[in-house]
Order: sequence, then C-alpha cells, then structure tokens
Amino acid sequence: MGDLLEGRVAIVTGAGRGIGAGVARLLAREGAKVVVNDLGVALDGAGEDQTPAQQVVEQISQTGGEATVNTDDVADHHAAQGIVNQAIDTYGRLDVLVNVAGILRDRMVFNMSEEDWDAVIRVHLKGTFNTAHYAAAYWRRQRDTDGHFRLINFTSGSGLHGAPGQPNYAAAKMGIVGFTYSCANALRPYGVTANAISPGAATRMTESVPDGRRRTPTGDGSDERSPDNVAPAVAFLASDRSDWCTGQVISARGFQIGLYNVPQVIRQIASPGPWELETAFTMIEDSFRPAVEATPRRGG
Ligand SMILES: NC(=O)c1ccc[n+]([C@@H]2O[C@H](COP(=O)([O-])OP(=O)(O)OC[C@H]3O[C@@H](n4cnc5c(N)ncnc54)[C@H](O)[C@@H]3O)[C@@H](O)[C@H]2O)c1
Repeated sequence: MGDLLEGRVAIVTGAGRGIGAGVARLLAREGAKVVVNDLGVALDGAGEDQTPAQQVVEQISQTGGEATVNTDDVADHHAAQGIVNQAIDTYGRLDVLVNVAGILRDRMVFNMSEEDWDAVIRVHLKGTFNTAHYAAAYWRRQRDTDGHFRLINFTSGSGLHGAPGQPNYAAAKMGIVGFTYSCANALRPYGVTANAISPGAATRMTESVPDGRRRTPTGDGSDERSPDNVAPAVAFLASDRSDWCTGQVISARGFQIGLYNVPQVIRQIASPGPWELETAFTMIEDSFRPAVEATPRRGG
C-alpha cells in the first residue's frame, strides 16, 4: 500500500472490468477510499450483473484497501445523484470522480440505427454529464474548503482521430472532450480540475476490433496492453500533485503517457471587407492546403 492518495475519496464508474477496475484498484492501493460503480452490462449495454463491481471491491478489501459497491446506471440522471451521495454518505466527502463506464455499438454511419446512436450517446456522453453534474454541485457547495477536486473523464482516439466504424462512439467521445474543456473553465474557481484520458488497452472492448495485436492479456500488468497500465496517469490526475493541470487530454496506453495539444487556429487569412468569392477560394487553397496535406488525418 502506498499513500499518494491517502485521505482522498473517489468514485470510479465502469470499475467492474477492464480499465476502470485497474483504476479503482490502484487508487485504493494508494490510500483512496473508492466507490466502485458498475452496472455489469454486456459490451452493447444489454443486461445487468452486480458481480463485476462486487469482485473488484473484494479484491480491494483483500489487499487492505477500502471500497464500496455501487451498481447503478450512470446514464440514469437520478441514479447518478445516488452514486455521488453514496461517496459522501459512506466516506464523508468526494474528491475525485473518474468517469470510465462505456459501451459499444459499432456500425458504419450508413448502417447505424437510431437506437444504436442513442444508446452510445446516452451511456458515454449523458452518463459523464450525470455524475459530473452532481459532483460539481457538491464541489461548488464546498468552495470554502481547501479542495483539490478532480473530474477525470474518458475520451478515445476513436473520436480524436475519427474511427470510421464508430460514428456514435466517436461523437460521444469528442462530446466528452468539449464537456471536459467547459468544466475545466467553469469549475476552476471551486478548486476543481477537469481532464480527459484517452486510453489504449486490451479489454473486451478492443477484443471486438478485428486486430490480432489487440488480444486480452492473461498477465497482471506485465503485458504492455494490460488495462492496469492506464491507471498510473489517472492516479496522477487524481492526486493533489496535479493542481496545475486542467483542460487537458492525456493519452495513456501501455508504458506511454502523452499530452495532446489543445485545438488552435494554425492558419488564418483575412479580407478587408466582405469576401470576394474567387479571392477566398484562392487564399484558402494557398494557405490551408499545404497545412492539411502535411498532416493527413489518422484513421482512428
Ligand atoms: N480499451 C481501450 O483500448 C479503450 C480505448 C479508448 C477508450 N476506451 C474507453 O475506456 C473506458 C473503459 O473501457 P474498457 O475497455 O475498460 O471497457 P470494458 O467494457 O472492459 O468496461 C466498461 C465497463 O463499464 C460498465 N458500464 C457500461 N455501461 C454502464 C452504465 N450505464 N453504468 C455503469 N457501468 C456501465 C460495463 O459493465 C463494464 O464493466 C470506456 O469509456 C471506453 O470507451 C477504452
């Protein structure tokens, strides 16, 4: 057991499996008290099972950590209030909210049903808002305390780079980036930082991707693609050492942790008055095209 997070209270959603489970275990190992939330659904969001969250709490208890089970649906706005209240009622406070819960319903945009679109937006984007809303309201009420409060959301390279077979998921995950930027700006006066993690790990989520390299690891962290390798970056953001870091997207995959740039205008042209169309076309081609061609989009 370490003490980097001693005295801190955290909620980790989607903590029954994969990356969330690794995050919950590491936060607890470093002294945090953790609410382990997981609805226990299938990859597409179907069904419910309390076992995954219970197993992670048992693992944490067996290694001397403190954790409590929550099996609510993060996408249910009212239930999200219960998740936040459980942390405050059980441990007396809430310092860190890590929004990891997620599902997949992959289809090309021309094949995607309204239901598949709504289901993924509901869990990722609305679920992230739901818990953050109630945590932020609590943190705002605590404004006079010397808080080092943390909102840590999960985005994806799928959104940042535009995975062609995941339009619903990519949209939700970029929505989470915008939401994180907004929260970073809004909540700074209340001692809250807001950042997003873009992870990479072999879990059941990546198993569905037809790629031989993305197998589920059998080891406990020695495999570079183990989900446990995402947790150290989250632990850093969860600690009081990261006060200076807000409004950022951090990638964490294998043994690498990276910092994404924040979008900014990289080329600008101007007209002295209303644009003359041919002038605009020519100036756009001359100025933007070399920049676009120098940085081709990644496939996600
Ligand atoms: N694995 C990767 O390489 C990868 C890459 C990019 C982003 N991500 C993101 O990281 C996060 C974790 O992914 P993972 O690979 O560990 O997936 P996973 O499927 O192993 O775990 C996700 C967990 O979320 C839970 N969950 C789903 N819907 C829920 C709900 N409504 N309420 C509460 N819990 C719910 C599931 O039961 C599951 O245990 C997700 O947000 C995912 O989008 C993962």
